[in-house]
Amino acid sequence: MFLGIDLGTSSVKTILLDSTQKIIDSASVAFSISRPKPLWSEQNPQEWWDGVIQTLQDLKTRNPTLMKQVAGIGLSGQMHGAVLLDKENKVLRPAILWNDGRTQAECSELESLAPHIQEITTNLTMAGFTAPKLLWVKKYENEIFQKTAKVLLPKDYICFKLTGEYVSDTSDASGTLWLDVKKRTWSQEILQAQGLSLSHMPKLVEGSQAMGKVKEEIKKHFGFEKEVIVTGAGDNVANAVGLGIIDNRDTLLSIGTSGVIFNVSDQVNANPELTVHSFCHAFPNTWHTMSVNLAVSAAINWGVETLSNDKKQENLIQNIIKLSQEIQDSIPLTKTSLETNENGLPIFLPYLSGERTPCNNSMATGSMIGLTLETTTQKIMYAILEGIGFNFRQSLECLQASGANIGKIYVAGGGTQNAYLLDLIASILNIELYLTQDSAVGGALGAARLAMIATGESIRQVVYKPKIIKTIAPIESVQSILNTRYQRYLKIYPITKQI
Ligand code: XUL
Repeated sequence: MFLGIDLGTSSVKTILLDSTQKIIDSASVAFSISRPKPLWSEQNPQEWWDGVIQTLQDLKTRNPTLMKQVAGIGLSGQMHGAVLLDKENKVLRPAILWNDGRTQAECSELESLAPHIQEITTNLTMAGFTAPKLLWVKKYENEIFQKTAKVLLPKDYICFKLTGEYVSDTSDASGTLWLDVKKRTWSQEILQAQGLSLSHMPKLVEGSQAMGKVKEEIKKHFGFEKEVIVTGAGDNVANAVGLGIIDNRDTLLSIGTSGVIFNVSDQVNANPELTVHSFCHAFPNTWHTMSVNLAVSAAINWGVETLSNDKKQENLIQNIIKLSQEIQDSIPLTKTSLETNENGLPIFLPYLSGERTPCNNSMATGSMIGLTLETTTQKIMYAILEGIGFNFRQSLECLQASGANIGKIYVAGGGTQNAYLLDLIASILNIELYLTQDSAVGGALGAARLAMIATGESIRQVVYKPKIIKTIAPIESVQSILNTRYQRYLKIYPITKQI
């Protein structure tokens, strides 16, 4: 038996998996995000730990006998967040998260303090990453900075609570900007440049290796009878492992809270200037190149809530379905329909919470351009979906320009339930997309798979791709209109940036 714990931003989901990879049971606890000031985004690590405990407790109550046989726990973690511990292991402040945009100024400062940072980390200094967060704390909360003895990533904090050890893995560590991504080791040069040292960092392992063993008191509490190892990876890597995306050229397009295109390679394809993330994969000598768009389901939810004038969370899904149906009826994806609807069909720039790829600007904002008296609710909602697709296309072009060799593109995430959106994205990218079975459980499954590998099972036996259940082909007749609209879309940001 194995446990896969997916520590996300909106919830923690834990699955209990048997050795044939059948999901026996799952449990989940929702989290809130605190946004005390504009651009800030924080969570309390204690809430994560309480959530993890709650899911394990639920699984134990329902499966007391099977829980005894657990041999490994895999963690998939929201990346980049900074958990600061003092020398007594007390959490010093709420964790500053991946989608926090307060550190744009500290990014430039870090680049002057550590002039080789791009070369060493193979990444651009972006506000969501961990290193600029520590520079911010040093500047504005110096007392806390001085007390900081360890900096842990979110899933590494959970690993610490489970094992008592400070350990990270190279995939998650890639998002700190303290890792030499080619050598897969901490960079003393960058740490020192901002007043930190190796002693602030956890030990490093590969995602497929054990990070530590579960403490006796926790084993007792949950009734684990075997030795239980813990391992894990950053959430996109764990998701990729869950979907079998581990070979050169394998590509995953994830339509979730954020939008991610993830491409595997056996070499580092860096291009920081183009805001491409270049990180380690879970296995030695394997890396991935990745684009990250910050608002995907957030943009859809915002659009639906605003247009239907209903912010009740319990009505959200129903409102999304209703509006999606209305778009499908009034603007079906055909040449004639797009031509007849063109008057007042706006173009949308989806930077609702700043953006990483393609512009690295936490102050970037969204735009809706081309409104007329003919603009309807359905046209606005269409534009939101199309803008998400255009953002994916520009991101894919950034990846390709970085040397990413794009193979088959598999799709995952909550957005794959929207067939219209999938057709639109395939048509905008002009490429086939493949939808697989179980694409929703990727992160927790990938984490549990890493735990299986860390207990000695072979990678090839454990990691495989799920069955393709649908191929989404681009719609030929809308290509030329979508291309023209994309060319107009590309002109918007350079102008709005100035104003
Ligand atoms: C990756 C990133 C996001 C978070 C979401 O760079 O910031 O995918 O990991 O949890």
